[in-house]
Amino acid sequence: MNTIFSGIQPSGSLTLGNYLGAMKHFVSLQENNQCYFCVVDQHAITVPQDRLKLRENIKSLAALYIASGINPDKSVLFIQSEVPAHTQLGWMLQTISYIGELERMTQFKDKSQGKEAVSAGLLTYPPLMAADILLYNTNIVPVGDDQKQHLELTRDLAQRFNHRFNDIFTIPEISIPKVGARIMSLQEPTKKMSKSDDNQKASIFMLDTEKQIEKKIKSAVTDSDGIVQYDKENKPGISNLLTIYASCTGESIKELEQRYEGKGYGEFKQDTANAVIETLRPIQERYNALIKSDELDDLLDQGADKANFTANKMLRKAKKAMGLGRVQKKKK
Ligand code: TYM
Repeated sequence: MNTIFSGIQPSGSLTLGNYLGAMKHFVSLQENNQCYFCVVDQHAITVPQDRLKLRENIKSLAALYIASGINPDKSVLFIQSEVPAHTQLGWMLQTISYIGELERMTQFKDKSQGKEAVSAGLLTYPPLMAADILLYNTNIVPVGDDQKQHLELTRDLAQRFNHRFNDIFTIPEISIPKVGARIMSLQEPTKKMSKSDDNQKASIFMLDTEKQIEKKIKSAVTDSDGIVQYDKENKPGISNLLTIYASCTGESIKELEQRYEGKGYGEFKQDTANAVIETLRPIQERYNALIKSDELDDLLDQGADKANFTANKMLRKAKKAMGLGRVQKKKK
């Protein structure tokens, strides 16, 4: 049995990229593994957030986890800020992180580019992410392709800590899906689909209506070849739609290319939209029932208790290894 950890930021409405690149895979992993799934709200505040909107997004993300199939009886589902060990270990890992390596993170470069005021939290985000993972003896971290660099840094920090202090952390492996690891923007298919894209037409959100999904896919940027073929370099728009379609139905891209041979983009786009709608419909139905109920709060309370228990054990080990606090006397 492996231990799995993954997190999603409640920094906006979740996109189809978040679902196909990450969340969808969490569900199958929970069958034979000990899984921890987290709403990483303290990561979200590394860029300015509206207080009320953030609260809403936190609950909404928790509901989406469950609506997508996360079973709180099998997996531990919790909110990061309700488990203080994350920021405590995050601080300790910051002290062994180098500014140079943090400045090299592409996410930091992207998010800080052209900004007048960049928060220190945006720079020190990766050691907090490392803490999230390392607190639970995680061996596998399922994420989309854009988190590769953060995972490499997590492994470096774990190794550095183990070498410098005591061998307490498990070195986690990254798990990236074969298809769907990087869903691209519908309007600029060489850029990843992102929660924070200003252009609403660029992203499909998990809670979009059928009409919105259809409209966005129909207006997705493609090319003028009229051939449904996967070619990331020369046909990024069609390749992205093929990836979306294949990830939603479980068919291979080859099968889809054959089905649409000699057919135009109109039919292909309509069927892609249908595949997305069918994938999201059951999730949206469960979400709508859950978001109105009190059940969610109870489940999150239980998740926080379980996560605190495990995380505090590791935090104690890490503090001891670094020499923090006092040695606890054995109780008589
Ligand atoms: P976040 O919130 O940006 O994204 C959540 C997950 O969705 C994946 N993802 C995508 N996959 C495919 N195509 C896309 N266009 C796409 N956009 C996003 C991400 O790779 C991610 O798996 N730093 C993390 C959150 C985090 C975390 C962690 C993850 C904090 N602590 C510990 C794993 C383990 C982030 O910003 O994800």
